[in-house]
Amino acid sequence: MLKLIRFLMICARHRFILLGILLLSFGNSYADEGMWLPLLLEKLNQRDMQMKGLKITARDIYDVNHSSLKDAIVQFGGGCTAEVVSDQGLLLTNHHCGYGYIQRHSSVQQNYLEEGFWARTLEDELPCTGLKVSFLIEMRDVSQTILENLTPEMNEKTRAKTISQISGQITKEAIQGTHYQAEIEPFYNGNQFYLFIYEIFRDVRLVGAPPSSIGKFGGDTDNWMWPRHTGDFSVFRIYADANNLPADYSPNNRPYQPRRFLPISLKGIEKGDFTFVYGYPGSTREYLPSFVIRSITEQQNPVRIHLRDIRLRIMDEYMQVNKTICIQYASKSAGLANGWKKWTGENRGITRINAISRKQDYESNFSRWAQHGPYNELLPLYEKKYLEYAYYRVSELWLSEAAFGIECLSIARSFQTLVDASVKPRPDTAFIRKTKKQLLASLPSFYKNYYPPLDFEMMKTLLDEYQKNRQNILFPISLDNWNQKYGGRLSAIFDKSLFPHQERLLGLLKNYKPSDARRILKDPIYELASSLSSFHKNELQARVKPLQQSLDSLQRTYMKAQMEMEPDRLFYPDANSTLRVAYGNILDYYPRDAVHYLHQTTLKGVIEKEDSVIADYQVPIRLKQLYEQKNFGRYADKSGNMPVAFIANNHTSGGNSGSPLLNAEGQLIGLNFDRNWEGTMSDLMYDPNLCRNITLDIRYCLFIIDKYAGASRLIDEMSIVQ
Ligand code: ARG
Ligand code: GLU
Repeated sequence: MLKLIRFLMICARHRFILLGILLLSFGNSYADEGMWLPLLLEKLNQRDMQMKGLKITARDIYDVNHSSLKDAIVQFGGGCTAEVVSDQGLLLTNHHCGYGYIQRHSSVQQNYLEEGFWARTLEDELPCTGLKVSFLIEMRDVSQTILENLTPEMNEKTRAKTISQISGQITKEAIQGTHYQAEIEPFYNGNQFYLFIYEIFRDVRLVGAPPSSIGKFGGDTDNWMWPRHTGDFSVFRIYADANNLPADYSPNNRPYQPRRFLPISLKGIEKGDFTFVYGYPGSTREYLPSFVIRSITEQQNPVRIHLRDIRLRIMDEYMQVNKTICIQYASKSAGLANGWKKWTGENRGITRINAISRKQDYESNFSRWAQHGPYNELLPLYEKKYLEYAYYRVSELWLSEAAFGIECLSIARSFQTLVDASVKPRPDTAFIRKTKKQLLASLPSFYKNYYPPLDFEMMKTLLDEYQKNRQNILFPISLDNWNQKYGGRLSAIFDKSLFPHQERLLGLLKNYKPSDARRILKDPIYELASSLSSFHKNELQARVKPLQQSLDSLQRTYMKAQMEMEPDRLFYPDANSTLRVAYGNILDYYPRDAVHYLHQTTLKGVIEKEDSVIADYQVPIRLKQLYEQKNFGRYADKSGNMPVAFIANNHTSGGNSGSPLLNAEGQLIGLNFDRNWEGTMSDLMYDPNLCRNITLDIRYCLFIIDKYAGASRLIDEMSIVQ
């Protein structure tokens, strides 16, 4: 005690230093890092949120018994978020989230990617096969029910089986007598479990999208970057049956009437304003040890980056020369480029913030704390196992990014079930018929976006690259054998194969008999695909799986131990595609020495970036006219400028795309669509000085809908607060 008083007295003399230390440590646990569970906001975050500026309560955000903001949020198509903005089920999400659906409705004659699309009436809204949106009805902590059935002695397999059995019972009970679906998700690496009940709608239609020159302005050049000028939004609508319930697509379905929709604020934003993001971040890994981060940045990311460099270069060469190829490969190349750039940024960020050495310091403390207890051996054991695993992990990355990046191999792999069933001594004809039907249904959409010469180039280059880099990985001997047999005749093989040629494959399938499997089996491309698949299953997966199980268990224990070591720290659970709230304030940042990035961009910046030669920076004439006439309607800011995007320090991740940015009153002020490049390491380690989420200002979105597209019928549906 005395020591403490003396310490405080010394500190009083240096009270500014003390204040600094206090702020720093406070800053560490509270520095706007975290994606929190809506269910626990009231207990864990409400005070902090209100201190930062929130004017509503945690229950306004999440409530099971009354309607709350959660009833306006959906998970969109598996990988994004969207929000309901009218009593007619109108949805806003990002352009890049709707991209695949816009693309599927596009052709050279009617190119909605290029020209944009605006349904004039409800009848013109376009059905999107396969697109689903899920509303969260309720979440519940079921940790106790599950954990009391698990014992520390259980091996991972038994543990997983037990969890899945109990989860089965819990979910069955939870949705009995309803049309809901339920899932149980592990949290904190399997130290806790939550039940999620969803209502899933299956008829979702495309309502509108700006041209890519607005919705993807800046393209892959500006992707993951601030300052940003992308109008990254698209508009959809949920349809329901006559009872307002989920139904398959039918022309008789009607616009869904939601429990809740978000009011939209045109009041505008200022630096420092409180905001929160409500959505479905996919995956983060914030509690890993240093050696895992090291492997990700030094071993795994470089392989992915290198191979995507090659794949993107090939796609680009072909896309440049031909418009059809450009449409065919637009979505694929955007997806590849997105990961490529993110991992590049992540690696830089990890280095820049000394993440590895900071984790090492943390681990020294941990080891000291753990010295005489049950966790004493944990980290050394974990490290040993991880190093073993990393070798196979890297081998797997080579296989998936190089070999399986070849499209004809992936289509050939999809025939494996059919072939296997056909060569059985007594083939199951019903099963074969079903499999054949599924294949027939999936082929057209594959070939619509397939250009054989591009894929041939890909095959040649990637197989070559794979071989050249075989020394440090587990490499498939079957590829050597295949090469010996066919290596010199790649071009002839490709020409003669079934798989790069839709008509041949369809011809074969139409009157398919089990004996036709022989033709497939003789196809060298099938031979390669199936040998690589069995390499993947029997040699890679067989080794990776048990290692992965040990690592899961080690990480689970490490997570538990970290929570025991710091009982007063609030640990937010890693993202796992469940609904979360991230909150913070609108904020600028300093990306590099002597450079300061402001918190907001405007239409002036779009015009500044315009470059008629570079595809990413073309500006539609109509947008230029509106800019010149300053025809911004009620969407301009106080100084008469048209805002486009802004940044804040909300902790977000992939999957948060399309998530609403809400203000202190819970009104919609923007759509989250990206993070800044300097901050992409936040999936592994968040840095309050560098990490920002990027948001499309809702005023730009409405301006484009209203003034640019003239789709005022959509604006009329919304509830706008001036
Ligand atoms: N980086 C954002 C995200 O992770 C946007 C991606 C789409 N945009 C693009 N130019 N590829 O999804
Ligand atoms: N664009 C990302 C997505 O599709 C969101 C950005 C991020 O990863 O933070 O979800």
